[in-house]
Amino acid sequence: MALFEWNASYSVGVASCDRDHQRLFSLINELHEAMRAGKGNHVVADVVAELEKYTRSHFAAEEGLMLRTNYPGLAEHKAEHASFVSKIADIRKEMAEGNLRQAVPVYTFLNEWLSHHIREIDHKYSSHLNGAGIH
Ligand code: FEO
Repeated sequence: MALFEWNASYSVGVASCDRDHQRLFSLINELHEAMRAGKGNHVVADVVAELEKYTRSHFAAEEGLMLRTNYPGLAEHKAEHASFVSKIADIRKEMAEGNLRQAVPVYTFLNEWLSHHIREIDHKYSSHLNGAGIH
């Protein structure tokens, strides 16, 4: 069973962002499944690397939308993104060095951080972006 199930409460009302968020959670689920199935470290490391790459790309796209529409909360939002990117880069490095034998705290952290970020931080831009014609 997947760790994360998407539902409407996660929608931010912007289709491209919703798609990205669904892909991010799908990657976290992949990581969960890989660990549960006892897949090798290289599989787990590959999923974490993909997650880092996709997260960076999503954050850049989202920040582009906020910049383009003069979103007033951009600086604060970017700081949240930067903090997460730094954390996931640390996790990837730790995994590459074989220092993270227990992945449970890793995917729990990723899942909780993204759930909170989407519901509490991303949601704040919904009406602003929608008002600028972005849906
Ligand atoms: Fe969808 Fe702010 O990340």
